[in-house]
Amino acid sequence: MTKYGSFPGARPRRLRTTPAMRRMVAEHRLHPADLILPAFVREGISEPVPISAMPGVVQHTRDTLRKAAVEAVEAGVAGIMLFGVPEDANKDAVGTAGTDPDGILQVAIRDVRAEVGDDLVIMSDLCLDEYTDHGHCGVLDAEGRVDNDATLERYAEMAQVQADAGVHAVGPSGMMDGQVGVIRDALDQTGHEDVSILAYTAKYSSAFYGPFREAVGSSLKGDRKTYQQDPANLRESLRELALDLDEGADMVMVKPALPYLDVLAKIADSVDVPVAAYQISGEYAMIEAAAEKGWIDRDKAILEALTGIKRAGANMILTYWATEVARGL
Ligand code: PBG
Repeated sequence: MTKYGSFPGARPRRLRTTPAMRRMVAEHRLHPADLILPAFVREGISEPVPISAMPGVVQHTRDTLRKAAVEAVEAGVAGIMLFGVPEDANKDAVGTAGTDPDGILQVAIRDVRAEVGDDLVIMSDLCLDEYTDHGHCGVLDAEGRVDNDATLERYAEMAQVQADAGVHAVGPSGMMDGQVGVIRDALDQTGHEDVSILAYTAKYSSAFYGPFREAVGSSLKGDRKTYQQDPANLRESLRELALDLDEGADMVMVKPALPYLDVLAKIADSVDVPVAAYQISGEYAMIEAAAEKGWIDRDKAILEALTGIKRAGANMILTYWATEVARGL
């Protein structure tokens, strides 16, 4: 046979011949301990409420959240990220429910901690958007702009009440400058030196958050472009990374995942802390919707997307499929 470069000596297909061979040479594999389950808990409901844009995901009652946490433990999932959904009547301009020790998120943290103890890493979203009547991630100034430094004071209070409730790690997702440092201080000053911070380091202003806004009943009008990052930017994420690490981030996160795998790979290459990626609501909705139409093989697409995120460098992946996928692995 004619020689073309290394062919026919070199035949990469040899290592793809059987399932056992492919399994042996796989460079990355998913493990249940890679996965973190984001979960919503809604105040004042007695039955779980389905989220229409996220088929299979619900707003939990306090009871069904406890059950979901137990199922996650049984499946070997690493952690749970909790989001509180207060009653509309409990939303206000400064997000008071987010710092109320009896607010829905704090209650849910205590519930889950009582149910599963330390068997799951219990994490909480540290952000005001679920609790503000205007839907922004911070408090507004007189001109209606999100006031960075006034918001930091609210985040410090949130950190304390969430830690008091028993969370293992907080996840500040509001993209305010200085949030990691202020939260670290607040935790340390209130005896919570052991509570860690999973910093949303690179969080882009994304159209793929759409279904999440339904999930938390967000009343946001407009957008978050003055605080979340422009999808056009990569170098900016490296700056955010340096700042977060300097301020004391224990773990860093990239969000969304699939459209930002280059950002994830770059960050994963340049840090010595664990790196998480958040496969967000819109990523979930796209696969579920295409599968429902019969246009895509759902289970294969889910595993392929998660494997791609791991290959790009994520140690941990937040995914609404965490328990289901962990069971199947
Ligand atoms: C803000 C927050 C958001 C998500 C997680 N934390 C929404 C936003 O920034 O608009 C989105 C998660 C998802 O879409 O699955 N608290």
